[in-house]
Amino acid sequence: MAIFFNENKKIFTMSTNHSSYQMQVNPLGILLHVYYGSKICEQDEMGYLISYRDRGFSGNPYDALTDRTLSLDLLPQEYPTYGVGDYRVPTMELVHADGSYAADFRYESYCIKKGKYQVDGMPALYAAEDEAETLIITLKEYASDVRLLLYYSVFEENDVITRAAKIVNDGESAIVLNRVLSACLDFQYEDFDLIHFHGRHCMERQMERVNLMHGIHRLSSARGASSHHHNPFFILCDKDATEHYGKCYGISLVYSGNFTAEIEVDQVNQTRAVIGIGDYQFHYNVKPKESFMMPEVVMSYSENGLQSLSHQYHKIYRHHLCRGKYQLTRRPILINNWEATYFDFNEEKLLHIAEQASELGIEMLVMDDGWFGKRDSDYSGLGDWIVNTKKLKGGLKPFVEKVNALGLKFGIWFEPEMVNEDSDLYRVHPEWVLQCPNRKPGRSRYQLVLDMGRKEVIDYLFDAICSILDSANIEYVKWDMNRSMSDVYSNILDKESQGQAYHRYMLGLYDLLERIVQRYPNLLLEGCSGGGGRFDPGMLYYSPQIWCSDDTDAIERLKIQYGTSFCYPISTVGAHVSAVPNHQTGRVVPYHTRGVVASAAGGFGYELDLSKVTEEERRLTKIQVENAKKYFDLVNNGTYYRLTNPFQNQTYTAWEFVSEDQSEALVSAVITKVYANGATLIVKPEGLQKDALYQIDGKEQVYSGAALMNGGICIPLPNVLDPNGAEMQSVNSGKEYGAVQYHIVKCSK
Ligand code: DGJ
Repeated sequence: MAIFFNENKKIFTMSTNHSSYQMQVNPLGILLHVYYGSKICEQDEMGYLISYRDRGFSGNPYDALTDRTLSLDLLPQEYPTYGVGDYRVPTMELVHADGSYAADFRYESYCIKKGKYQVDGMPALYAAEDEAETLIITLKEYASDVRLLLYYSVFEENDVITRAAKIVNDGESAIVLNRVLSACLDFQYEDFDLIHFHGRHCMERQMERVNLMHGIHRLSSARGASSHHHNPFFILCDKDATEHYGKCYGISLVYSGNFTAEIEVDQVNQTRAVIGIGDYQFHYNVKPKESFMMPEVVMSYSENGLQSLSHQYHKIYRHHLCRGKYQLTRRPILINNWEATYFDFNEEKLLHIAEQASELGIEMLVMDDGWFGKRDSDYSGLGDWIVNTKKLKGGLKPFVEKVNALGLKFGIWFEPEMVNEDSDLYRVHPEWVLQCPNRKPGRSRYQLVLDMGRKEVIDYLFDAICSILDSANIEYVKWDMNRSMSDVYSNILDKESQGQAYHRYMLGLYDLLERIVQRYPNLLLEGCSGGGGRFDPGMLYYSPQIWCSDDTDAIERLKIQYGTSFCYPISTVGAHVSAVPNHQTGRVVPYHTRGVVASAAGGFGYELDLSKVTEEERRLTKIQVENAKKYFDLVNNGTYYRLTNPFQNQTYTAWEFVSEDQSEALVSAVITKVYANGATLIVKPEGLQKDALYQIDGKEQVYSGAALMNGGICIPLPNVLDPNGAEMQSVNSGKEYGAVQYHIVKCSK
């Protein structure tokens, strides 16, 4: 049993295999958060950790009577609110009909059941009845008929606990929520580092580790998408935590829109972390008998460092978030025409690329932006999801048939949420865009944002997408979204309700995505937002892979893919081999290295004009494609190890996949800087069986797992690395950016 309630002491204890989470209802009915960390015993009462002291300027609830040591400003709480004496970052700011800002929730009841709760209209983890257990605690606001339902599901085997919450207005008048976050974690100490993932377009999820200090650290997005700039995931860990050592807490929000995460160290060095829907322009009226559900938060704890924490997230997201035909199966290796042609393509050009691709074993052609409406540049066409017959003369169906005849599947690009002013859709329905009255909306990439909170917009998009998908044999869709939102004002909402517009957009988007995945269960969806601007668990519920970044430079990708791996399974990463000089950086990286980096992904493919590659590169493509097929299981179902940190190690970046039974591993390393007469580079594999014997790349020599993990493998010096990854036939290049791969296989000798 994962959830235990001590009726006498009113203590809730939730346990996973290696962690425990405890709450206690205090005598005033306040739900305290008393523990989250390494596993304790069922009978342990962690409330002893709370120190009660009378501290100046930290007042007391009225019903604490003469007890001046009981203060909401100091107590660790499960769902702290604004207005009644807690001055730290709150989860909720609630305004009653009389204008009072006060939310004081007290315990009312609980229930425990098998299986997983659901989150109304939003993505969430799923589980069979025997895979999770759920606790629902109901709190009631002290002076009104507003209830707060706190949901918890425990995934015992996965060391994961999820949370969500719902506000129910059982009163007679409407309430307003100005801020309503999904979860809070209170700790009674401050000895944490914060690890978070910031970035920008073409440079997402850059890992940054900082010491917490007094005050508030804020990570957020007000861009209408989870964004390139901050990811809705962060880690609090011991200051000395490493990949293999130390206590770490992961906090991940299953939401793809605006978010707020705040981490505060308070006056007495306690730490509070909160996360949920973004609070800018958030203002939600909840009418009598209505409710508001908050998105889910997925928490995981590891006492053995960051590596284990990532493994826990990889497993839970792969097995309990991603869905559909391609959740676990191998995805077709694709060629995407974007960097090969941009908007300048026609049927002949695409078929030429497809022919080359098919000869090399590639399995799918993806036709990117530019196939519809008047779309010869990014100034026009978005919204008109009708085939451009100037480019595809006979229409889509015969074209797809030709692609299929070459032995390739076919995929297509959409950007459903956007519209250009120069489009038929905008000419007919200018009122469908988000736009403030009497103002011209800000443009970005010359496009405006459709109001996804309008049912008729969702219906239009559903019909438009279905009519394309039904018109030909289309097996993949890349779902793009290419701007940050501004001027978020919805014509269908009254002025009191404009604070709902961002969230209603997300609910509409999720509704549309759900309708698409239900109607096309065999379709592979790849999420995208100018690369990884919406790389979050919310989107992974619909699309099991996401285009990781518009930056296809293999060397920059090392950091982007490294940062992404902290929370997201490798199977969810989309990565392509592209042309050199690279279109984003101008850097020239050997073809082999580009393949090694791109193949550390579940969505492996190419994005270049294959008719322009050399014979040697064609040969390498064949090998890369074969390897991607051969190593599919290892890469996607294996355990992923970060062997170096590219933000610290300037010389090389290495990573590894190990099969579940530890019989096989694939170690990859990319040289990022060369030095004259450089030091020997040693990469140390992990996750092997110490006493098992292994061979590398089928060579004669046999090593024990212990030897390889402790001694390591010497990487050939950079100036003797062949840029194309072949055996070191010659001391030829002296070039940076060489790559090596070692296939380690258990043997019986
Ligand atoms: C941004 C995407 O990330 C690119 O891969 C490409 O699809 C363009 N949009 C097309 O406009």
